[in-house]
Amino acid sequence: MSFNINRRDWLKKSVLATAGLSAATAFIQRAEASPAIRRELQMSLSPDFQLEKAFVGINPPAVMKARLGANENPWGPSEKVKQALISAISESNRYGRQGRADLIKLIAEKEGVPENYILLGAGSSELLTASMVAYGMKGKIICGDPCYISGNEEKIPLEKVPLTKEYQYDLDAIAGRLNGSQSLVYITNPNNPTGAILPADTLTAFINKVSDKVPVLVDEAYIDYAKNPKTDCMVASINAGKNVLILRTMSKLYAFAGLRVGYAIAKPEILKAIAPYCSGGFDISVPSFAAAIAAIKDTDFQKLTLANTAASKQYTYDFLTKAGYPYIPSSANFLLFPVKMKGSDLMSKLMAEGVMVRKWEFDRQHWCRVSIGTMDEMKIFAEAFSKIAS
Ligand SMILES: Cc1ncc(COP(=O)(O)O)c(C=O)c1O
Repeated sequence: MSFNINRRDWLKKSVLATAGLSAATAFIQRAEASPAIRRELQMSLSPDFQLEKAFVGINPPAVMKARLGANENPWGPSEKVKQALISAISESNRYGRQGRADLIKLIAEKEGVPENYILLGAGSSELLTASMVAYGMKGKIICGDPCYISGNEEKIPLEKVPLTKEYQYDLDAIAGRLNGSQSLVYITNPNNPTGAILPADTLTAFINKVSDKVPVLVDEAYIDYAKNPKTDCMVASINAGKNVLILRTMSKLYAFAGLRVGYAIAKPEILKAIAPYCSGGFDISVPSFAAAIAAIKDTDFQKLTLANTAASKQYTYDFLTKAGYPYIPSSANFLLFPVKMKGSDLMSKLMAEGVMVRKWEFDRQHWCRVSIGTMDEMKIFAEAFSKIAS
């Protein structure tokens, strides 16, 4: 009996998944042809829109006390960035050709790659959208479940592979599924929403094994928060000639969520595949170029952010441990833990206390993803959570 039900459920699920895939393929074909549809896809991929969707039916409080829903950097922008913005205002009557060239040069030096390995975008959502369109036209995009793009199956032809029992990307399962129908492997590392990072040697071995068959996109939005960003990132694989596309955002460590700067790193033939679907940095303003250059050079602010994030994260770990909530150790500026109530109740109850978080549902559990804010914000979160969860 239960076998029948399971089988029926399984059949229903696979019929729905196939229908979803063909609807998503049709959507990607429309996005390929139309900048307006690409814009729609980009909005679905942007944290702002995801928050808006998650908060449907939940009334915002009069005063927001702790904005912990979009993994923003509460300590920025830095003073040096503010100064760079102010100085650049008087040059804003000019086109940004020089600023763009200077920023590309600086990023290429920082990453240790040639300048033609860098493609700028107005945030990494733009580059992510372009990658989904370019590769989604050719086949399925195989990814972890959950990961940053896994909620977008209506628009992107996704093949989702559940995480392991340790909530880590299941690279063996992904490698085992590659059968010629996939055009791209998408890996969020560290993953969003789990915060878990793949060991560099494991991910490098996976890339060496599969990337000749299928290119690998590594979304490194949070790599700056890893223990050893220089060696935990996959730039070495790119320099080794592998088919790897890295996406980076300045929205996190550099506090640029509203300034909108991101970049792709890959060999030129890969960048050429996605370039037709993005602005190539033309959406970035003269002040944002100047600010990005100042931010990359402002290592004091980067160190301050990392130290503050570590302290606030440790406080939150300790609070959760005392409250009896296990969490997934995080290599990012957010953390994820299972909760004992429905995600929508959690969000609305916390919102009523002026605290914004994100809900997730997977592995038959409800989860809370809380961004790491200032110490004051984490104390407000802890107090509000204790109130609603007891
Ligand atoms: C994994 C990941 N990729 C990409 C982005 C997009 O960042 P942005 O468009 O602000 O550069 C985010 C934002 O939160 C993210 O978490």
